[in-house]
Amino acid sequence: MGGAPHPLQQWLIEGTDGRRCDITVGRGIAGHEALVPANRSRIAVLAQPPLAGLAQGIAAAMRQAGAVDAELRVLPDGDEAKELAIVGETYRWLNEIGFTRDGLIVAIGGGALTDLAGFVAATYLRGVEVVYLPTTLLGAVDAAIGGKTGINVDGKNLAGVFRHPSRIVIDLNLLDALPEKLLREGAAETVKAGFIADEQIVAAYEGDGIDAALDDVVPAAIDVKVTTVREDFRESGRRAILNYGHTIGHAVEIAAGIPHGEAVAIGMVAAGRVSAEVLGFRGSSRQRAVLERIGLPTTAPAVNADRVMDLIERDKKRDRSGLRMVLLRDFGEPVVQHVSPGSVDLGLREIGIVPS
Ligand SMILES: NC(=O)c1ccc[n+]([C@@H]2O[C@H](COP(=O)([O-])OP(=O)(O)OC[C@H]3O[C@@H](n4cnc5c(N)ncnc54)[C@H](O)[C@@H]3O)[C@@H](O)[C@H]2O)c1
Ligand SMILES: [Zn+2]
Repeated sequence: MGGAPHPLQQWLIEGTDGRRCDITVGRGIAGHEALVPANRSRIAVLAQPPLAGLAQGIAAAMRQAGAVDAELRVLPDGDEAKELAIVGETYRWLNEIGFTRDGLIVAIGGGALTDLAGFVAATYLRGVEVVYLPTTLLGAVDAAIGGKTGINVDGKNLAGVFRHPSRIVIDLNLLDALPEKLLREGAAETVKAGFIADEQIVAAYEGDGIDAALDDVVPAAIDVKVTTVREDFRESGRRAILNYGHTIGHAVEIAAGIPHGEAVAIGMVAAGRVSAEVLGFRGSSRQRAVLERIGLPTTAPAVNADRVMDLIERDKKRDRSGLRMVLLRDFGEPVVQHVSPGSVDLGLREIGIVPS
């Protein structure tokens, strides 16, 4: 890990339930000292397969530091972990190792792993403490932050609870070593935070593309998410701005079977066009250029237009008053607003989808 551990930046979120969530971003801090609050003796580490080695090292260090028990379980990769069957298996494992209410769960992995671990921690014995070590860029700036957990039951994230972990430790040394594909996926959500609330993030990606300094963009994107979540934990209002690019993006993601980050990039291009039409947004071409600079797609792959429309309609039915989208009046000025079918049509054409 190299160098003396030092935090770069810290946040505290005070939950509505009286629980506190500490977030620390630093370098070389992915060790048991930062992860484990004082006097915890019973620890269950849950990890994704690529992180098994790191997790083993951390569990061993915990034992050396005096934890009576630090057991490790490696879960299936990606969304295969977010299944009810895995939730059940994890409960049973915790029971077998004698995990009690004073224990601590340590979650090491991307957004899928922290979603599963957060859900298990919120429900096992009616709630035990959990800390996250997010290991993907998307996990660090998005999935780990904000206290949403989700399990897939037919539909994605159909079940879940709102509950913050007690601590989130983000080690930029880990993120620096990510394969480019994962960095690009995460960059879509990072630059999204820039478009809705912090133009400096946009500028950083304009300058260096995928090589934008994580020391700059990660704390800035976390700050956007923390500020938004503090205002509206349960997503009854302001938090919706985080869904910029997601209405059309999510439909394209499902219809075309492409990764979430790529779909969000495409969705933002469409939302940018709708924003230009409805609110006179003038940043569309700048937005498209920075996404291209990062190496993200800005047009949809060949896809069934009717299916995309159906999926968008489904989104609309969930809100009785019609389709609402997050639009931009300008960078940093998001507006959640109803849009007409004609405007959505323009957005779809912008990404190469021609409705019949
Ligand atoms: N709770 C929320 O608010 C929220 C928000 C956004 C996304 N999510 C969820 O997050 C998940 C997506 O997150 P993700 O993109 O991190 O996916 P992920 O957790 O599936 O990780 C992607 C891949 O990267 C691998 N990986 C993780 N860390 C690595 C590392 N350091 N080096 C190399 N490989 C590594 C994983 O094993 C996996 O194969 C989805 O399930 C999504 O629903 C949740
Ligand atoms: Zn997203």
